[in-house]
Amino acid sequence: MNFRKTTVFVFISFITFCCNVTSQVREVTLLESGWKFQKGNNENAYKINFDDSKWETVNVPHDWAIYGPFDKEVDKQNVAIVQNGENVASEKTGRTGALPHIGSAWYRNKFALPQYEKEKKVILFFEGAMSEPQVYLNGKKVGQWAYGYSYFYFDISEFIREGKNTLAVKLTNKEFASRWYPGAGLYRKVSIIVKNEESINQWGAFITTPFINKTEAKVNIKTKISGNNVRLITTIFDADGQKISSQESATPFGNEFDQNIKVENPKLWSPEIPYLYTAKSQLYVDNQLKDEISTRFGIRSIKYEANKGFSLNGQVTKFKGVCLHHDLGPLGAAVNKAALKRQLTILKDMGCNAIRSSHNMPSFEQLELCDEMGFMFLAESFDEWAKPKVKNGYNRFFEEYAEKDIVNLVHATRNHPSIVMWSSGNEVPDQWGTEGVKRAKWLQDIFHREDPTRPVTVGMDQVNNTLKSGFGALLDVPGLNYRIHLYEEAYEKFPQGFILGSETASTVSSRGIYKFPVVQEKMKQYDDFQCSSYDLEACSWSNVPDEDFVLQDDKPWVIGEFVWTGFDYLGEPTPYDESWPSRSSYFGISDLAGLPKDRFYLYRSRWNTKDETLHILPHWNWKGREGEVTPVFVYTNYDSAELFVNGKSMGVQKKNLSTPQNRYRLMWMDVKYEPGTLKVVAFNKEGKPIAEKQLKTAGKPYKIVLNPDRKTIYADGKDLSYVIVSVVDVNGLECPTATNQLKFNVKGSGVYRAACNGDATSLELFHLPIMKLFSGKLVVIVQSLKEAGTIELLVKGKGLKSGKLNLTAIHL
Ligand code: GAL
Repeated sequence: MNFRKTTVFVFISFITFCCNVTSQVREVTLLESGWKFQKGNNENAYKINFDDSKWETVNVPHDWAIYGPFDKEVDKQNVAIVQNGENVASEKTGRTGALPHIGSAWYRNKFALPQYEKEKKVILFFEGAMSEPQVYLNGKKVGQWAYGYSYFYFDISEFIREGKNTLAVKLTNKEFASRWYPGAGLYRKVSIIVKNEESINQWGAFITTPFINKTEAKVNIKTKISGNNVRLITTIFDADGQKISSQESATPFGNEFDQNIKVENPKLWSPEIPYLYTAKSQLYVDNQLKDEISTRFGIRSIKYEANKGFSLNGQVTKFKGVCLHHDLGPLGAAVNKAALKRQLTILKDMGCNAIRSSHNMPSFEQLELCDEMGFMFLAESFDEWAKPKVKNGYNRFFEEYAEKDIVNLVHATRNHPSIVMWSSGNEVPDQWGTEGVKRAKWLQDIFHREDPTRPVTVGMDQVNNTLKSGFGALLDVPGLNYRIHLYEEAYEKFPQGFILGSETASTVSSRGIYKFPVVQEKMKQYDDFQCSSYDLEACSWSNVPDEDFVLQDDKPWVIGEFVWTGFDYLGEPTPYDESWPSRSSYFGISDLAGLPKDRFYLYRSRWNTKDETLHILPHWNWKGREGEVTPVFVYTNYDSAELFVNGKSMGVQKKNLSTPQNRYRLMWMDVKYEPGTLKVVAFNKEGKPIAEKQLKTAGKPYKIVLNPDRKTIYADGKDLSYVIVSVVDVNGLECPTATNQLKFNVKGSGVYRAACNGDATSLELFHLPIMKLFSGKLVVIVQSLKEAGTIELLVKGKGLKSGKLNLTAIHL
């Protein structure tokens, strides 16, 4: 083996920041309801006495564009997508989702702060605003920001009044500003913090665990404060709320307290056991409590080492990760914790252990859930630096904002044990040219300055260039997007001694759609604008999953992968960027409704090492294909299996090393379709039958069946139940090709929120209670009200027995 510089990064764990904590000393008011909203560029809307009575009343988080209609003219881009290898411009419809997110809009909120007194400090805090927010309070400009994904806050102490206050926010989305659907509006939380002059600064706590062994951990807590003659008491609690230990300090260094607290027999945070501690920080002047915050944190160590790779708590661990865009399909970009939790629950079952927030700052809700449910996190910041990918992208803001945006990202999220790496960029055109190399270093240094405990990566697609320019060599973690043919060379030539698959696969498929003949192809297009679920189609720059698996399995220096993507998202309908009405992606392992495609089971068969996977494809309803070759694939954790068509054996298939597909899938390529029963019997290592599964040809749709992910939800006005709607024949067999149009009605303690069928070409609107099934299924999302009780969902379809379901909404 060649010699290389041994690069050892020892990065150890942390904290969590706190928000929405109310105590007698600090009041956090969530500005959730009572917002007035209107689209348009209204010059006077910042004024206190502006009449907004006729405006729409909305709740925040809110996405103004998700209600449609889909329109091919919205943000139509006549461009050559250089990253996709295009040289000639062509018309791209649906690139940003074809939803009406372009233009300006205003939000106004009138509020009072009961705890406010003249000498208090008041912070106005936005967790994201899409985009270019201009913020006014009581008729005066408070400040502005630029990037729609950033967290930012303003000290509004000098603008606030006793009694009623008027907040007005103007947002503007330019055309040609994004490569995907960005959403529109105040799509994340807005809150106001009222605190004393003597208080803990915004994101002022930074908790790390620089020493961990079996019997003890050192928890270091740095706390930035304002005020004189203050004293800080920090107390650590375990996950059951039991006090562990406490420390009192009266000597800050400048405006920072630096405390070390011992935790005996520490319980470590990991994806398997995501154990969380809490640090309560109390600030006193004499005996008077002036401020208090609670910060959740985990005790865990991370290490990145040449040749060995990544270790979590001393154990070599590979990232079995997915990239996620921030939109929540039919809910748009408006953040919802229940929707995020459902995504993570689905991913957990697949065996996924890591998430990359591509290509921007994650929501706080997502990080909280990753801490709690056990996912490692690669928190990304930008898709562009100074050089543009899209005309009106982040390049317009880079010089002025990049440092501020990174500082806010790091300060706001550094206490999450789930975050194990930062990313300063994705496929930035700055990979070209010497200025870009300097920018890569500059950004990485900012991350290091703000957080010396975690490494930084960039998702690189210009690998040959970054090998020559020094761009890749300077990164803590060299991330390769696709380019599997360059992994070996990159490993040899880069000094770090390991490679991360920062973005992999980009395989495309449509749930429940299969195309014949079954062949591996790049950029394949069909007349119906769908992609085949035999999972053999990818983009010209990308590959099918099995080819990544080979690298992950055979090269110990590959530290894992982040698959593009865990779920379909709005916009970027490759390979149909030019084909209206395609308006959402085909990349997802699950579709836009969160329903698993076949690929889900391919990843599950490898990643979920605890549970059995035995999945057959395609479906077995092929009227008109009788006697024609209809290959059958089985995705399973078992090594071999026998397939039967109507009792006749099609032979035994065994995984083997002849091709990447043969290594990870069982494939019967010559099966001829005949209606009836397809059965697979899997064998264990000794060749004994161990499990079996069958698929039957279904008859005509007869009855609607409803299957909720949760039967009981919280009556908080936000919680969601995702109900899978399918149709079955008279014998109860699912009809996999059904396209019946269905109508939904919700009564009682809940409302109909949205539906989605996962069809990337559908122009049906998510919020209307009517939609067609796609490949026999769709999902209805039911939202709770604030009252407890029964929620009734009724689903009807012409000629079908209706589906009825009762859900329960309870108070916490
Ligand atoms: C990558 C890019 C992603 C997405 C993907 C589609 O190059 O980083 O944002 O565009 O391609 O394959």
